This record gives sequence, C-alpha cells and structure tokens, in this order.
Amino acid sequence: MLKQLDTIYADALESLQAVEETTVLDTWYRDNLGKKGQVYLLTRQIGSLSKEERPLFGQQLNQVKQQLQTAYETKLAALKAAELEAKMAADGLDVTLPGRPLPQGGLHIITQTLRDIYRIFGDMGFQIYRSPDVETDAYNFEMLNFPPHHPARDMQDTFYTSQKDVILRTHTSAGQIRAMQEYHPDPVRVILPGMCYRNEQITTRSEIQFTQVEGLAVGHNITFTDLKGTLTEFARRLFGADRNTRFRASYFPFTEPSAEMDVSCFLCDGKGCQVCKQTGWLEILGCGMVHPTVLRNGGYDPQKYYGFAFGTGPERIAMLKYGIDDIRQFWGNDLRFLQQF
Ligand code: PHE
Repeated sequence: MLKQLDTIYADALESLQAVEETTVLDTWYRDNLGKKGQVYLLTRQIGSLSKEERPLFGQQLNQVKQQLQTAYETKLAALKAAELEAKMAADGLDVTLPGRPLPQGGLHIITQTLRDIYRIFGDMGFQIYRSPDVETDAYNFEMLNFPPHHPARDMQDTFYTSQKDVILRTHTSAGQIRAMQEYHPDPVRVILPGMCYRNEQITTRSEIQFTQVEGLAVGHNITFTDLKGTLTEFARRLFGADRNTRFRASYFPFTEPSAEMDVSCFLCDGKGCQVCKQTGWLEILGCGMVHPTVLRNGGYDPQKYYGFAFGTGPERIAMLKYGIDDIRQFWGNDLRFLQQF
C-alpha cells in the first residue's frame, strides 16, 4: 500500500504539471484530494493493514496529502496570475495611456454676438436691464403709442395666448416702459437683450423666435446728436474702425423722429457686392427719439426729459459678420453649424 501511495503521489504531481486552466485544476483536486479522491479512498483501506504498519502509513499519507495540497495551491496561484495577465492583454487595457479628452461645449454664436454688444455698450455706461418674454398688450403695444386699431400693429404678427391681453413680446421695446417706470425720476441708460416672438412664415430670412437688443437713454439734455454718436461708435467697434454710418428717415409709433441706421458694407468696403446687394450699405438697426407719449407713459415729463432708443437684431448682425445665409441655422441645433464658431 505504501507503494500504491507513492504511485498516486507521483501520478498526481505529474498530472498537476500538465494542468493549464483553473477549471481543469478543479477537476484535478476532486480526483486527487476530494472526498472521493484517490488519497481519500486509500485512507479507507487503512483498516486492512496490521497494527504495526498503520502509524508509518498514516504518517506517509498525511505527508502526501500536505504536499499535494501545497502543490495545488502554488499551481492555483500561478494559474490565476497567468489568467489575469492574459485577460489584461486581451482587453488591451494600458493604464499608462493618457485619458481621452472630454468633448467641450462652446458658446452659441448668438451668445457670443450678444456679449460683443454688451461689452461695447457697457463701455459707454449702459447697464443690462431684463424684462419679461411674456408681456401684456399694454407694454408691447398700447403704451408704446400703438392704439388698439393702429395699422402699425400689422407690422408684427403677434403670438396671443388664451389669456386676454397676454402675449409673447414681439420686440424688446416692450421693456422700455418697464425700465422707465423703475428708474423714474433718475436718468436711464440701459440695453435690454432678449428673445422676441413673431407668428411669421419661417424662411431663410425670418424666424418665429429671434433675439433683439434694445437700447434706451433718457435724461435732461439728450439730443439726436447723442443718438447718432452712440450708434456710430457702436457700429465702428463692432464692424471695424473704418465703417461709415448713414441714417435714413423711417417710422415707428414710439419714436419721433425715427430712423434706420446703415453701416458701410465691411465686405466690399462700400463698393457694392452680393451681401449689400450692390448698394454699399447694410441696414443694422431701427432708432429714434423717444416719443413724448411714451416718455409720459414711462413717468417722465416730456417737457423736461428727452431720450433716444434703438433696437438691433443679433442674428442679422451675425449673418452679416459671418456670411450666414439662413437664419434657421441659429435655432436648428445642428452641431455642424454651431461648432464653426
Ligand atoms: N422695436 C423695433 C423693431 O422691432 C426697433 C426699434 C427699437 C425702433 C427702438 C426704434 C426704437 O423693429
């Protein structure tokens, strides 16, 4: 039986050498050291030995058991390490590689344009004044000198709500009265940026939502010269120091006199090109002296106070500046467009 034990031991070690996977190693363990393994089966035959033989056999048996157990554990550790190594190689994980850069967002082209405008007017002492997108008919039209059936209301197709007299503002001019009411009797020098809404057919040139920046200055000695100086400086800071401006007479119910300002085309330098439609001029804003009725509605005595106001469209400015030919791009959320800026 001692011989048998030797053979079992030798065979077990040999077969252990050949094992290359942990699953095969499990089977090896069961066959050799398990409850029905060879070594255990031999233990059960101990009774067939004589009393003298038993201690020696028992000793040998325990030694074999222990040695096989140690050999098994060594093999198990080696296999596990090898399997981990193989898995890491297969997964191609190289922890020394630098991390992948996270995609970074950018500012929307209109936000950038707005900030350009804020900076210029900020330097001239204008503060930003926020007024609501959802307005009443009174602020958007009535107090701006549009009587209920005034034909000027046809200029803007309005989004009405189910609530009487509550509308989406069609222009930032609606905030003029709010600013005056809040500042009165102090002088006003604010710009009012924000989204406006018009129920229009969407085309390459018109959208149902767009931003505007309104400007308003009210004080004791404000003249049309101040308006021209301020806006000419604005155009030069925005489009370049060489720009010329011209003012054409226009009409708005809330300003008198009213004008539109053109800036000399910065693409062809006034010679005439596709963008300025061969005129050499680009229209960029509407403006005028605040109408006495509007001043009064804002709380100011038109005998003592004067003011100028203007309104410009950042989408239009960006279209001219960057040669964008479709206004729908701005709110279409196409990253291929947005990422260019
Ligand atoms: N609110 C006018 C528009 O939407 C622009 C404007 C603002 C004109 C202020 C004069 C003064 O077209």
